[in-house]
Amino acid sequence: MPEQTDHWSADRYETNARFVSDLGAGVLAWLNPQAGERILDLGCGDGALTVRLSEAGAEVIGTDFSADMVAGATALGIDARVADGHALNFEHEFDAVFSNAALHWMTRPDEVIAGVARALKPGGRFVAEFGGQGNVAAIRVALSSVIERLTGEKDAPGRIWYFPSCAEHSARLEAAGFTVDRIVLIPRPTPIPSDMAGWLDTLAAPVLGSVPEALRAQVRDEVVELLRPALCDAAGNWTADYMRIRFEARLA
Ligand code: BEZ
Repeated sequence: MPEQTDHWSADRYETNARFVSDLGAGVLAWLNPQAGERILDLGCGDGALTVRLSEAGAEVIGTDFSADMVAGATALGIDARVADGHALNFEHEFDAVFSNAALHWMTRPDEVIAGVARALKPGGRFVAEFGGQGNVAAIRVALSSVIERLTGEKDAPGRIWYFPSCAEHSARLEAAGFTVDRIVLIPRPTPIPSDMAGWLDTLAAPVLGSVPEALRAQVRDEVVELLRPALCDAAGNWTADYMRIRFEARLA
Protein backbone atom coordinates (compact mmCIF):
# COMPACT_ATOMS: atom_id res chain seq x y z
CA MET A 1 0.00 0.00 0.00
CA PRO A 2 1.56 3.42 -0.92
CA GLU A 3 2.15 5.82 1.94
CA GLN A 4 -0.53 8.52 1.89
CA THR A 5 0.89 11.97 1.24
CA ASP A 6 -0.87 15.33 1.08
CA HIS A 7 -0.46 16.41 -2.57
CA TRP A 8 -3.20 19.03 -2.45
CA SER A 9 -2.86 22.73 -3.02
CA ALA A 10 -6.00 24.82 -2.58
CA ASP A 11 -4.75 27.40 -5.12
CA ARG A 12 -3.98 24.81 -7.81
CA TYR A 13 -7.34 23.15 -7.10
CA GLU A 14 -9.15 26.47 -7.59
CA THR A 15 -7.51 26.92 -11.03
CA ASN A 16 -7.79 23.37 -12.36
CA ALA A 17 -10.54 21.59 -10.44
CA ARG A 18 -13.26 24.00 -9.33
CA PHE A 19 -15.67 22.10 -11.62
CA VAL A 20 -15.52 19.13 -9.18
CA SER A 21 -17.61 20.89 -6.54
CA ASP A 22 -19.66 22.76 -9.19
CA LEU A 23 -20.86 19.34 -10.43
CA GLY A 24 -22.03 18.28 -6.96
CA ALA A 25 -25.62 19.46 -7.30
CA GLY A 26 -26.95 16.00 -8.19
CA VAL A 27 -25.58 14.20 -5.16
CA LEU A 28 -26.58 17.13 -2.96
CA ALA A 29 -30.17 16.69 -4.18
CA TRP A 30 -30.01 13.00 -3.22
CA LEU A 31 -28.82 13.96 0.27
CA ASN A 32 -31.62 16.53 0.63
CA PRO A 33 -30.16 18.01 3.84
CA GLN A 34 -32.66 19.15 6.44
CA ALA A 35 -32.45 21.97 8.98
CA GLY A 36 -31.21 20.67 12.32
CA GLU A 37 -29.61 17.52 10.94
CA ARG A 38 -26.05 16.78 11.99
CA ILE A 39 -24.07 15.89 8.86
CA LEU A 40 -20.47 14.80 8.27
CA ASP A 41 -18.93 15.85 4.93
CA LEU A 42 -16.25 13.21 4.38
CA GLY A 43 -13.47 14.57 2.15
CA CYS A 44 -14.87 18.10 2.27
CA GLY A 45 -11.99 19.61 0.27
CA ASP A 46 -12.01 23.41 0.39
CA GLY A 47 -15.62 23.41 1.62
CA ALA A 48 -17.25 24.80 -1.53
CA LEU A 49 -20.03 22.19 -1.35
CA THR A 50 -20.03 21.87 2.45
CA VAL A 51 -21.35 25.42 2.77
CA ARG A 52 -24.47 24.33 0.89
CA LEU A 53 -25.23 21.90 3.74
CA SER A 54 -24.85 24.70 6.28
CA GLU A 55 -27.07 26.96 4.17
CA ALA A 56 -29.78 24.25 4.36
CA GLY A 57 -29.65 24.66 8.15
CA ALA A 58 -27.70 21.49 8.92
CA GLU A 59 -25.02 21.36 11.59
CA VAL A 60 -21.98 20.30 9.57
CA ILE A 61 -18.54 18.93 10.30
CA GLY A 62 -16.08 18.50 7.42
CA THR A 63 -13.05 16.25 7.37
CA ASP A 64 -10.27 16.08 4.80
CA PHE A 65 -6.84 14.46 4.59
CA SER A 66 -5.29 17.70 3.31
CA ALA A 67 -4.40 20.45 5.79
CA ASP A 68 -4.35 22.99 2.94
CA MET A 69 -7.91 22.07 1.95
CA VAL A 70 -9.07 22.13 5.58
CA ALA A 71 -7.61 25.64 5.93
CA GLY A 72 -9.71 26.69 2.91
CA ALA A 73 -12.87 25.17 4.41
CA THR A 74 -12.19 26.77 7.80
CA ALA A 75 -11.85 30.15 6.07
CA LEU A 76 -15.44 29.66 4.83
CA GLY A 77 -16.59 29.26 8.44
CA ILE A 78 -16.87 25.47 8.38
CA ASP A 79 -15.95 23.30 11.37
CA ALA A 80 -13.36 21.37 9.36
CA ARG A 81 -10.78 18.93 10.67
CA VAL A 82 -7.81 17.09 9.21
CA ALA A 83 -8.60 13.37 9.32
CA ASP A 84 -7.83 10.18 7.43
CA GLY A 85 -11.08 8.81 6.00
CA HIS A 86 -9.84 5.28 6.70
CA ALA A 87 -9.81 5.97 10.44
CA LEU A 88 -12.84 8.09 11.32
CA ASN A 89 -13.32 8.35 15.06
CA PHE A 90 -16.91 9.54 15.41
CA GLU A 91 -19.40 7.47 17.44
CA HIS A 92 -23.07 7.29 16.38
CA GLU A 93 -23.53 11.06 16.20
CA PHE A 94 -24.53 11.92 12.61
CA ASP A 95 -27.91 11.78 10.85
CA ALA A 96 -26.07 11.55 7.53
CA VAL A 97 -22.60 11.17 6.09
CA PHE A 98 -22.10 12.92 2.74
CA SER A 99 -19.19 12.73 0.34
CA ASN A 100 -18.47 14.17 -3.12
CA ALA A 101 -15.47 13.29 -5.29
CA ALA A 102 -13.43 11.95 -2.39
CA LEU A 103 -14.06 8.23 -1.86
CA HIS A 104 -12.03 7.27 -4.94
CA TRP A 105 -8.90 8.43 -3.07
CA MET A 106 -9.55 6.02 -0.19
CA THR A 107 -8.16 2.71 -1.37
CA ARG A 108 -9.23 0.64 1.65
CA PRO A 109 -13.00 1.09 1.21
CA ASP A 110 -14.04 -1.43 3.87
CA GLU A 111 -12.23 0.61 6.53
CA VAL A 112 -13.92 3.79 5.28
CA ILE A 113 -17.38 2.20 5.26
CA ALA A 114 -16.86 0.75 8.76
CA GLY A 115 -15.93 4.24 10.04
CA VAL A 116 -19.00 5.76 8.39
CA ALA A 117 -21.24 3.08 9.92
CA ARG A 118 -19.74 3.85 13.34
CA ALA A 119 -20.23 7.61 12.83
CA LEU A 120 -23.94 7.32 11.96
CA LYS A 121 -26.90 7.15 14.31
CA PRO A 122 -29.16 4.09 13.81
CA GLY A 123 -31.14 4.66 10.60
CA GLY A 124 -28.62 7.25 9.40
CA ARG A 125 -27.92 7.63 5.69
CA PHE A 126 -24.72 7.56 3.66
CA VAL A 127 -25.02 9.53 0.40
CA ALA A 128 -22.02 9.92 -1.87
CA GLU A 129 -20.69 10.34 -5.38
CA PHE A 130 -17.21 9.51 -6.66
CA GLY A 131 -15.37 7.94 -9.57
CA GLY A 132 -16.91 4.62 -10.61
CA GLN A 133 -15.90 1.74 -12.85
CA GLY A 134 -14.37 3.09 -16.08
CA ASN A 135 -13.71 6.55 -14.60
CA VAL A 136 -11.07 8.49 -16.55
CA ALA A 137 -10.29 5.23 -18.35
CA ALA A 138 -8.26 6.78 -21.17
CA ILE A 139 -6.24 8.89 -18.71
CA ARG A 140 -5.68 5.90 -16.45
CA VAL A 141 -4.48 3.64 -19.28
CA ALA A 142 -2.15 6.34 -20.65
CA LEU A 143 -0.63 7.00 -17.21
CA SER A 144 -0.29 3.32 -16.51
CA SER A 145 1.41 2.55 -19.80
CA VAL A 146 3.88 5.47 -19.75
CA ILE A 147 4.82 4.86 -16.10
CA GLU A 148 5.33 1.13 -16.70
CA ARG A 149 7.57 1.79 -19.71
CA LEU A 150 9.70 4.39 -17.90
CA THR A 151 9.90 2.80 -14.44
CA GLY A 152 8.76 -0.83 -14.75
CA GLU A 153 5.98 -0.20 -12.22
CA LYS A 154 2.66 -1.80 -13.26
CA ASP A 155 -0.75 -0.09 -12.86
CA ALA A 156 0.46 2.84 -10.74
CA PRO A 157 -2.99 4.57 -10.88
CA GLY A 158 -4.66 1.36 -9.64
CA ARG A 159 -2.81 1.74 -6.34
CA ILE A 160 -4.01 5.34 -5.90
CA TRP A 161 -7.63 5.33 -7.17
CA TYR A 162 -10.62 3.15 -6.22
CA PHE A 163 -13.21 3.12 -9.05
CA PRO A 164 -15.68 0.30 -8.23
CA SER A 165 -18.68 -1.08 -10.08
CA CYS A 166 -22.14 -0.68 -8.51
CA ALA A 167 -22.14 -4.42 -7.67
CA GLU A 168 -18.78 -4.26 -5.90
CA HIS A 169 -19.56 -1.15 -3.87
CA SER A 170 -23.09 -2.34 -2.96
CA ALA A 171 -21.65 -5.61 -1.67
CA ARG A 172 -19.17 -3.73 0.53
CA LEU A 173 -21.95 -1.48 1.93
CA GLU A 174 -24.26 -4.41 2.62
CA ALA A 175 -21.48 -6.36 4.34
CA ALA A 176 -21.16 -3.41 6.77
CA GLY A 177 -24.89 -3.41 7.60
CA PHE A 178 -26.20 -0.84 5.10
CA THR A 179 -29.27 -1.23 2.90
CA VAL A 180 -28.59 0.30 -0.52
CA ASP A 181 -31.69 2.29 -1.53
CA ARG A 182 -30.28 3.39 -4.90
CA ILE A 183 -26.96 3.24 -6.73
CA VAL A 184 -26.16 4.30 -10.31
CA LEU A 185 -23.20 4.70 -12.65
CA ILE A 186 -23.37 8.01 -14.55
CA PRO A 187 -21.21 8.72 -17.64
CA ARG A 188 -20.14 12.37 -17.39
CA PRO A 189 -17.71 13.62 -20.05
CA THR A 190 -16.40 16.74 -18.34
CA PRO A 191 -14.80 19.77 -20.01
CA ILE A 192 -11.50 20.65 -18.36
CA PRO A 193 -11.18 24.38 -17.64
CA SER A 194 -7.40 24.54 -18.16
CA ASP A 195 -5.69 21.73 -20.09
CA MET A 196 -4.62 18.12 -19.59
CA ALA A 197 -1.24 19.10 -18.11
CA GLY A 198 -3.04 21.19 -15.46
CA TRP A 199 -5.50 18.34 -14.79
CA LEU A 200 -2.66 15.85 -14.36
CA ASP A 201 -0.65 18.18 -12.12
CA THR A 202 -3.70 18.70 -9.89
CA LEU A 203 -5.90 15.60 -9.95
CA ALA A 204 -3.25 13.00 -10.77
CA ALA A 205 -0.67 14.58 -8.43
CA PRO A 206 -0.48 11.48 -6.20
CA VAL A 207 0.05 9.24 -9.26
CA LEU A 208 2.78 11.51 -10.64
CA GLY A 209 4.17 11.75 -7.11
CA SER A 210 4.70 7.97 -7.11
CA VAL A 211 7.20 8.38 -9.99
CA PRO A 212 10.84 9.43 -9.35
CA GLU A 213 10.98 13.22 -9.51
CA ALA A 214 13.41 13.27 -12.45
CA LEU A 215 10.83 11.45 -14.62
CA ARG A 216 7.63 13.28 -13.62
CA ALA A 217 7.63 16.00 -16.29
CA GLN A 218 8.40 13.42 -18.99
CA VAL A 219 5.54 11.17 -17.81
CA ARG A 220 3.11 14.07 -17.79
CA ASP A 221 4.15 15.37 -21.22
CA GLU A 222 4.01 11.93 -22.86
CA VAL A 223 0.57 11.26 -21.33
CA VAL A 224 -0.71 14.59 -22.65
CA GLU A 225 0.43 13.73 -26.19
CA LEU A 226 -1.01 10.20 -26.01
CA LEU A 227 -4.40 11.58 -24.95
CA ARG A 228 -4.55 14.53 -27.34
CA PRO A 229 -6.20 12.66 -30.27
CA ALA A 230 -8.91 11.19 -28.00
CA LEU A 231 -9.68 13.97 -25.51
CA CYS A 232 -8.73 17.29 -27.17
CA ASP A 233 -10.81 18.88 -29.95
CA ALA A 234 -9.54 20.92 -32.90
CA ALA A 235 -9.96 24.16 -30.94
CA GLY A 236 -7.73 22.86 -28.11
CA ASN A 237 -10.53 22.13 -25.62
CA TRP A 238 -10.00 19.07 -23.40
CA THR A 239 -12.73 16.78 -22.07
CA ALA A 240 -12.07 14.14 -19.39
CA ASP A 241 -13.89 10.80 -19.58
CA TYR A 242 -15.48 10.90 -16.12
CA MET A 243 -17.80 8.15 -14.88
CA ARG A 244 -19.52 8.75 -11.54
CA ILE A 245 -20.98 6.26 -9.09
CA ARG A 246 -23.69 7.75 -6.87
CA PHE A 247 -25.47 5.96 -4.04
CA GLU A 248 -27.81 6.36 -1.09
CA ALA A 249 -27.52 3.74 1.64
CA ARG A 250 -29.17 3.50 5.04
CA LEU A 251 -28.01 1.91 8.26
CA ALA A 252 -30.44 -0.52 9.88
C1 BEZ B 1 -12.67 12.16 -10.12
O1 BEZ B 1 -13.17 13.10 -9.51
O2 BEZ B 1 -13.35 11.32 -10.69
C2 BEZ B 1 -11.21 12.02 -10.19
C3 BEZ B 1 -10.41 12.93 -9.62
C4 BEZ B 1 -9.07 12.75 -9.70
C5 BEZ B 1 -8.53 11.70 -10.33
C6 BEZ B 1 -9.33 10.81 -10.91
C7 BEZ B 1 -10.68 10.96 -10.84
